[in-house]
Amino acid sequence: MRKIGLFGGSFNPPHKGHLHLAEILHDSLALDEVRLIPAKIPPHKSDRDYAPAENRLEMCRLMAEAHDWLTADDFELTQKQISYTYYTAKHFAKTCPEDRLYLLAGGDMLASFTEWYRWKDILQMVTLACIAREEGEYQKLLPYAENLRQTGEIILVNAESFAVSSTKIRDMLRKNQNCSCYLSQNIVKYIKEKNLYTGSGAGLYQVKDKIAFLENRLTPKRFRHSCNVARVARQLAQIYGGDLEKAYFAGLVHDICKEIPFEEQYQQMMQSGYPPDQAELHSKKLWHGIAGAYFIRTEFGIEDEDILNAVRYHTVGRAGMSLLEEIIYMADMISEERDYKGVDKMRRLAQKDLKMAMLEALRDALVSVMKKNGFLSRNTVEAYHYYLLQAQETKDHKSIEDRKS
Ligand SMILES: [Fe+2]
Ligand SMILES: [Fe+2]
Repeated sequence: MRKIGLFGGSFNPPHKGHLHLAEILHDSLALDEVRLIPAKIPPHKSDRDYAPAENRLEMCRLMAEAHDWLTADDFELTQKQISYTYYTAKHFAKTCPEDRLYLLAGGDMLASFTEWYRWKDILQMVTLACIAREEGEYQKLLPYAENLRQTGEIILVNAESFAVSSTKIRDMLRKNQNCSCYLSQNIVKYIKEKNLYTGSGAGLYQVKDKIAFLENRLTPKRFRHSCNVARVARQLAQIYGGDLEKAYFAGLVHDICKEIPFEEQYQQMMQSGYPPDQAELHSKKLWHGIAGAYFIRTEFGIEDEDILNAVRYHTVGRAGMSLLEEIIYMADMISEERDYKGVDKMRRLAQKDLKMAMLEALRDALVSVMKKNGFLSRNTVEAYHYYLLQAQETKDHKSIEDRKS
């Protein structure tokens, strides 16, 4: 049985005060792990005050990097709606049935806990761990804790406060003041890189705007597919150490030109500067990859070659694909609404061994084209050989290692 602390919050941004609390919880309760669970924020909140979900998650991940007992968890962010604590507790109780769960609660949360949705059920699933930080707060919270102890387990911990507020930090960031006493260096760097909290747009790629754009431009089915691909791309990026934000963005826009008339797709493809191979030229349904890359470059000003290539090659693949290209190609194959025979096997393989999954997916793609007497894309054939060679090299390497041992 492991002891796991659940630490929810907006983490906007995650700062040293959060880390201080997580450390107290970890040390005083001898926890094996603390999970930072960024909360979903209502979509109408402004960019100036709220960083997008994927950025808050990534900043939590950056904060967790230096501590092997700390992790970032995207459960609440992946929910359709803002999650009640009851559902979050239920999720972890279900996914960690052998473990003991501690829910970190602030003083105000403890005082109003009996107003919470299904609070009695929450206390059946978790121990409430409340840290009293202010002078006299411990004494003030005692009667609330006593009252709740009739229903579940409550732990009160007295700790020194670490005075810092996210509002103040955001204000300092906007004024370009030095925040390194409140934020770790990697988070400061990330905020600068992504241009967060400036009010100039939701992150580097202004994802919120793009979602609205796609919802208008695509049929509901294609829009859902795009959102699903974005989500699974982000998960794959997390597994394989890719850039979560780029993966999400590229997944979101990969089919952006799929539903415009073929003449337009053709024109964009021919103007793009990306030469189509023979099969791409002959097969209309492959045009949207090249047209899509051209579109996001010219309309959205995307200059990142990796994102452009991920969109350009998501239809056919190519030899020597980058991690992001592989992620988008594969996310497109295994997104939630896909239901072809063998999709579950492909999903498992993609999470375990991305390169092997690429090999399988490319083989399936080639076989399917041949069955229909279609033209084989040179890019796909080269990609297939590339991954085949990699698989063989891995196998050879493994057998040499086995022989040595
Ligand atoms: Fe596509
Ligand atoms: Fe797609």
